[in-house]
Amino acid sequence: MVGLEAIAFSVPHYFINLTDLAVARGIDPDKYTFGLGQREMSVATPCEDAVTLAAGAGRRLLSDFNVDPESVALLIVGAETGIDHSKPIASYVHEMLGLPSLCRSFEIKHACYGGTAGLFTASQWTMSGRAAGKKALVIATDIARYGIGTPGEPTQGAGAVAMLISDNPTLIEFDMDGEGYYSKQVMDFWRPIYSKEAFTDGHYSIACYLDALQHSYDAYRRASDHDGDPYFADRFVACLYHTPFVKMAQKAHRRLLETDAGAPFAPGSPQAKSAGDDFARRVAPSLEINTRVGNIYTGSLFLSLANFLEDQGGRAAGRSISLFSYGSGCQAEFIVARVGERAGQAMKRQSFRTILDGRKRLDVRRYEEILEANGAADLNDSKVCDPNVWRIDGPFVYLGVRNHQRQYVKGKKNNEK
Ligand code: COA
Repeated sequence: MVGLEAIAFSVPHYFINLTDLAVARGIDPDKYTFGLGQREMSVATPCEDAVTLAAGAGRRLLSDFNVDPESVALLIVGAETGIDHSKPIASYVHEMLGLPSLCRSFEIKHACYGGTAGLFTASQWTMSGRAAGKKALVIATDIARYGIGTPGEPTQGAGAVAMLISDNPTLIEFDMDGEGYYSKQVMDFWRPIYSKEAFTDGHYSIACYLDALQHSYDAYRRASDHDGDPYFADRFVACLYHTPFVKMAQKAHRRLLETDAGAPFAPGSPQAKSAGDDFARRVAPSLEINTRVGNIYTGSLFLSLANFLEDQGGRAAGRSISLFSYGSGCQAEFIVARVGERAGQAMKRQSFRTILDGRKRLDVRRYEEILEANGAADLNDSKVCDPNVWRIDGPFVYLGVRNHQRQYVKGKKNNEK
């Protein structure tokens, strides 16, 4: 057996309220809150990057779940937000977390799918017997940037999710027999190496996502013993999706049910209404965290998983859930997992709500200053990464690039439990 033994996340120090952003852009706030389903968005300052976020999530996991760093023999970081053409985020994180030198560490990139690719690799390693009792730490870390005034602006966000994979899957156990995946070259979202901001054909990316979901779910059903069951998806107590914005998960859930039904639901039909009710029952309760963090690319699906395990892990013990991962470009995977009998007890940590409530709210002017300063954060000898200016106290702080090398220090929060 293989699956998750621990999960923890980190977010930057600041957030912006999406109603404030809509007003500043002259857009009806209902578009962001009801149309996209978002309330808040985490914002990373120049002193917070994919490394500090990943290390923050990893540190919280090791401490909250009492994991001995010496037990970790594989560290995989999945990220869209690469910080170097050559050196992986994983090398920095390996040192920051005090992991042993008898450890493999590397980075995987495939847009928002990189974290799932890491989970798959770590699970195969564990199942192969080569782990020999050791564990794998997989961290999905990203800063989603589309830029000021773009249609993607309200779907930005930042954060990281760390997951411990082992043969003691207290939280969820993966179904390693069933597989449903799908790959196709599409130009829906990309980020050329000269750009900090992503380019996207937004509406096309939604269509590509739904197409990939249908194919990978269909592949999973066909590979399953229960092929032909018209209510296949009913077996899942919760359905979790890659969530760049909450409305996307709603569209995805409807497509899942339409795939079972074998035809699209007509707008306003009883089936469409029932799909909406089912979304409210099996999907929406795990999306509160996503409405408050925004898109974190590789980690978005796993934020939702953390929300689900904290709120429903106890009563869902022994039941199956589905997880759908989508990375533009594209690669998709439909995963099924069983909730552990002790998942509820194991998740009795600091609530995600407490962590999010600890963030500080930005006004739109300060948010724009931060986004503009971020453009210079990775230039050699730039002065913008000053923790006193941005009031950043760790646990890990990015100080910019000196002599063409990235500089990091521990912040005050590193001494706190
Ligand atoms: N009140 C309530 N809802 C409103 C509204 C209002 N005043 N104005 C618009 N809406 C709704 C729209 O009907 C739409 O909902 P629907 O899709 O259910 O019809 C939603 O709000 C978004 O409006 P839309 O006009 O489609 O927004 P947009 O063209 O400005 O951009 C994205 C939306 C998602 C394409 C854009 O944010 C984007 O490119 N994001 C990044 C790419 C991404 O996340 N892709 C996802 C797949 S990976």
